[in-house]
Amino acid sequence: MPKISHLECSRCKAIVSPERPQTICPQCAGSLYVRYDLSPLRGLAARQEISREDPTTAWRGMWRYRSVLPEAVPVTLGEGWTPMIRSLRYPNAFLKEEGANPTGSFKARGLAMAVTMARHYGLKKLAVPSAGNAAGALAAYAAAAGIEAHIFMPKDVPFANYVEATLYGAKVTLVDGLISDCGRMVAERKGKEGWFDISTLKEPFRVEGKKTMGYELVEQLGWEYPAAVFYPTGGGVGLIGMWKAFLELEELGWVRPGKRPRMIAVQSSGCAPVARAFERKEKISQMWPDAATFAAGLRVPKPYGDYIMLEILRESGGVALSFPDEQILASLRDWALHEGIFLSPEGAAATAAYDHLLATGYLKPEDRVVLFNTGAGLKYAEVTAEAAGIQRPA
Ligand SMILES: Cc1ncc(COP(=O)(O)O)c(C=O)c1O
Ligand SMILES: [Zn+2]
Repeated sequence: MPKISHLECSRCKAIVSPERPQTICPQCAGSLYVRYDLSPLRGLAARQEISREDPTTAWRGMWRYRSVLPEAVPVTLGEGWTPMIRSLRYPNAFLKEEGANPTGSFKARGLAMAVTMARHYGLKKLAVPSAGNAAGALAAYAAAAGIEAHIFMPKDVPFANYVEATLYGAKVTLVDGLISDCGRMVAERKGKEGWFDISTLKEPFRVEGKKTMGYELVEQLGWEYPAAVFYPTGGGVGLIGMWKAFLELEELGWVRPGKRPRMIAVQSSGCAPVARAFERKEKISQMWPDAATFAAGLRVPKPYGDYIMLEILRESGGVALSFPDEQILASLRDWALHEGIFLSPEGAAATAAYDHLLATGYLKPEDRVVLFNTGAGLKYAEVTAEAAGIQRPA
């Protein structure tokens, strides 16, 4: 594992010390990236070490990439190295099944890393505003690390998120509002309560955990880039993390030279601040009023890292799109019926977007694409049953 050389602001490029826990840039409040000296790892010899990994070691799952993750003893529940499933109908579409992670979502990666570093720094109390799955993941890793978790989430989160967070022993506050209101409550109380705030993009390590998705998809495709990556976008940690991974992979010389994937950010029409800002060619998003969608993880009315996402989308030649919940639900049913896969509503936003971009000719059937199912469909049993009109017979 490499030593962190420094933290770097994503906006003003200020350098910040990794010697103590950091949140955002002290100069401009931008999100911080973790930087290392990767030069000793350059070349294929270091890459081969990863592929040669002994499956019985403790360094399983996303920790196979420990050579590019911070030096610390992991708090792990088996996250990462999730299946890459080739679609039965579209031979060049691969579904990255993040529902296979502990706590049933990709949030496990970011929170495994954030809690690992919290324990490394000796932090005792963590707080997070969450759309649901980050709460469950924080609660699980905090329980495993013996750290307190304080969670604020909308009172109408999928029931599974409430049950898991409570069962793992987190202090859960249900809020009559959205994740933005939850964030405000954490910000107001953290000083007095002594909580460390691990909100999306307000500390550097959740991105660092999520970047393993970028390493993983490239490795699983034979160390080659796909043409496009479809990512259901709320706060954007995964999108930002994967892009960081691609830049590192190029610096390391681990990926076959070629065009970086087009990044496709997918939202619901009920909450589409990034899609709207992209369409209007704006640098930041505007707060989305009355956000509502059954894809609970996409209900983020004003993402903190919007400026980073918008930059990445443009640089990659990608696009941000939004679809009505009915169209997302139709894609969810389609994949259940024809592929045997129970998508999360967020994942179904990605598959709906793929159908759309094939239909418009933006992508060809021969283009290799990765579609992220960011969470397990079963976590949303009651939400999806209601949307699909499924009831137990009386
Ligand atoms: C299942 C699922 N997909 C996507 C998202 C959005 O993730 P991000 O904040 O990384 O954009 C979330 C966030 O809660 C989620 O739970
Ligand atoms: Zn800055």
